[in-house]
Amino acid sequence: MGQSAKTNRAEQVIARCRKLAMFSEDTGTLKRTFLSAPMVDVHQEIKSWLEPLGMQVWIDAAGNFRALYPAAESSGPRLLIGSHLDTVPDAGAFDGILGVVLGVTLLEELRGRRLAFGIEVVGFSEEEGVRFGRPFIGSRALVGMLDDELLNVVDGQGISVRDAIRNFGLDCEQISEAKLSPDTVAYIEFHIEQGPVLEALGKPLAAVEAIAGQSRLQIVFDGRANHAGTTPMNLRHDAIAGAAEWVLAVEKFAQKANNLVATVGKIDAKPGATNVIAGQASMTLDVRHGSDDARSRAVQELIACAHEIAQRRGLSVRKNVLLEQRAVAMDRFLAGEIERAIANAGCEPHRMVSGAGHDAMILAEKIPAGMIFLRTPGGISHDPAESVAVEDVEKAIECGMRLLDQFASSPEFCKVASESSNTVSAEQRDRA
Ligand code: GLV
Ligand code: MN
Ligand code: MN
Repeated sequence: MGQSAKTNRAEQVIARCRKLAMFSEDTGTLKRTFLSAPMVDVHQEIKSWLEPLGMQVWIDAAGNFRALYPAAESSGPRLLIGSHLDTVPDAGAFDGILGVVLGVTLLEELRGRRLAFGIEVVGFSEEEGVRFGRPFIGSRALVGMLDDELLNVVDGQGISVRDAIRNFGLDCEQISEAKLSPDTVAYIEFHIEQGPVLEALGKPLAAVEAIAGQSRLQIVFDGRANHAGTTPMNLRHDAIAGAAEWVLAVEKFAQKANNLVATVGKIDAKPGATNVIAGQASMTLDVRHGSDDARSRAVQELIACAHEIAQRRGLSVRKNVLLEQRAVAMDRFLAGEIERAIANAGCEPHRMVSGAGHDAMILAEKIPAGMIFLRTPGGISHDPAESVAVEDVEKAIECGMRLLDQFASSPEFCKVASESSNTVSAEQRDRA
């Protein structure tokens, strides 16, 4: 393919991501949560790209978009390629979406050529955890981890995951059919890096070797709502003031700790009026580290700190654990093949640990998983300014095609499943 055709292809990938970004719950900004109405338009749009390839397309009972490009022979194994289609509020156009669009593009680039393995493209219905405070709903269904407990979780409107599935016209009774087809041997996910590392190194692509573990909690300070004009300062039990002290303590703790990140990303106070001392402040806490032990210790210390602040201020504290996701290593064979494909695409390979969570860490519970990061301009993500360079998308397509060819000629590819460990090594952790 000539250079200008390659550039056109990469530009089309970016244009498609931007087109999908128009399907939003909010006017003027992008927000698309689990099974919200604009997800129907997204599914429709992707389906229209796949129609010329004559592929079988379906939406599984967890709302995941699935499409199958068959193997040359009906008994061939299956490679899964994809990422997520939901977004954070006020999102950029590429987080997750790019991985799905690149999957579609790789199939188009095959131009009808069948491989020894089939390729299933998946667009997960939920990865971010925005609507229900619980991430990875889509990928959990594929590995059989979308259980009753999760189906019963409710959103801010009191609608459960189960009801959201029903309201979308899907059938919860069929969730088990969303599971990975038993012939699926590996999962590959393209994703923007969402950080500044590749840009600083001047490299367009990287192989991910591990994904940091994460804890997500809701922390509630309960105090005493009272009159803002009549209650002297020394007789208050102000939940917002306690929460504010704790938020700063979280920041200070993470700044001093090695390789730890901790974030309070959301805070709500009740009753929420200018002239009322807050009786309740509810916050989220997100803690990540390459070492599960270091992460657990940090969470314990931050909770102890909340109790100490609460006691001193005459408040009480409650916690609700929303997620405990261990750190996960990517499959070693796949990471090696990805590095080789990056080199074959004319780029200098690089290996790195992901601080962001990805569907790949859920898939890795059942099958070998590998990820390819694309350089993220300015390291900006979870923001409308999120972008990706045309040249880097070109390299990603080239890398993807090389990877498919490598798999097709690798006797090892079809038996990677049984042999790899997804436990994070100390060396990988140190690089987190
Ligand atoms: C996903 O975007 C995450 O929060 O890691
Ligand atoms: Mn994200
Ligand atoms: Mn993502």
